[in-house]
Amino acid sequence: MKKKLVATLLSAAMVTTMFVGCGTSGEVADKDAAGSTEASADGEDAAGDTAAKPDGNLVGVAMPTKDLQRWNQDGTNMKEQLEKAGYEVDLQYANNDIATQVSQVETMISNGCNLLVIASIDGESLGTPLSQAKEAGIPVISYDRLLMNSDAVSYYATFDNYMVGTKQGEAIVEALDLENADGPFNLEIFTGDPGDNNARFFYGGAMDVLQPYIDDGKLVVQSGQTTFEEVATANWSTETAQNRMDTIISGNYSGGTKLDAVLCSNDSTALGVANALAASYTGEYPFITGQDCDVANVKNLITGKQSMDIFKDTRDLATAVVGMVDSIMKGEEAEVNDTESYDNGTGVIPTYLCEPKVCTADNYKELLLDSGYYTEDDLK
Ligand code: BGC
Repeated sequence: MKKKLVATLLSAAMVTTMFVGCGTSGEVADKDAAGSTEASADGEDAAGDTAAKPDGNLVGVAMPTKDLQRWNQDGTNMKEQLEKAGYEVDLQYANNDIATQVSQVETMISNGCNLLVIASIDGESLGTPLSQAKEAGIPVISYDRLLMNSDAVSYYATFDNYMVGTKQGEAIVEALDLENADGPFNLEIFTGDPGDNNARFFYGGAMDVLQPYIDDGKLVVQSGQTTFEEVATANWSTETAQNRMDTIISGNYSGGTKLDAVLCSNDSTALGVANALAASYTGEYPFITGQDCDVANVKNLITGKQSMDIFKDTRDLATAVVGMVDSIMKGEEAEVNDTESYDNGTGVIPTYLCEPKVCTADNYKELLLDSGYYTEDDLK
């Protein structure tokens, strides 16, 4: 057991340098590269000893859509970093269409990909190609979004999604000084797509912070819409969020009632909310949260139309995933730092969590410009 641990730490140490900016407490889970959840009785790892080392170097990378800025960055970073590490890459975008993504993954398998990295559109909908991958001994890494109810998933790499939500909730608590002020303050809530497991973590994290204030009446949701189902936004669509906010404004905030804060789980929904406010809300501008630091939203941060954002450096996630790919391709275990939080319905998937950071008008230069994520020109 001890010998194994040392070997494990050594292999983890070999990839540690690749995990820039992500969590620090590496541990390695007992999970074989083809997705078996069985740990051997003495704690011997399955990945190192039993997983076949993929025979080739073609990596299929399936991304959900080009519509949102972040996935373009994710795809580009993954391709660049994988190629730099010596892999061939088949990168596909599915235009947010589930059938397209299913067929893209099937084609990757039939084209002989040796490993799949998948950011799903809907975490539940890739069961068939995932079974095919498992049958063919092709390891699968869930990228950013967890693939649900499939035992073909070897590893998961993402940002700490629950922490994203708590940071958004805490920002609202701080901005409205809910600890000290009497209130009541008016809040509205927008989260993401119900088929995206992350949305439940974002919502859950934020509501764990905000719910006590709703319960004691300091925060009031005038629309009455607070459950996940009521505040979800299909496809994370800006237009859908905008339409819902329009309806909420005309029903609840047209007679001078002040809207104090809007919890938006990400930037595409925050943009929809900002558009609706610009069109029909005349009161003092509310505190609005977001996530991703998309260019349009950072511009809104700078001009005060969005109050905070969550920066998830997609370069770091790509680095973490390339490290995972590298380990699996060498027949080794990949480094993970969470073996509790993400059960996909077939068991807990060993996960590497990167750390999300709060971005505001005060620190965006340091986070986004000094780090080279954007240039000043990008934000003009
Ligand atoms: C990602 C977010 C993104 C959202 C919409 C989520 O799964 O974690 O970063 O804003 O999808 O694409």
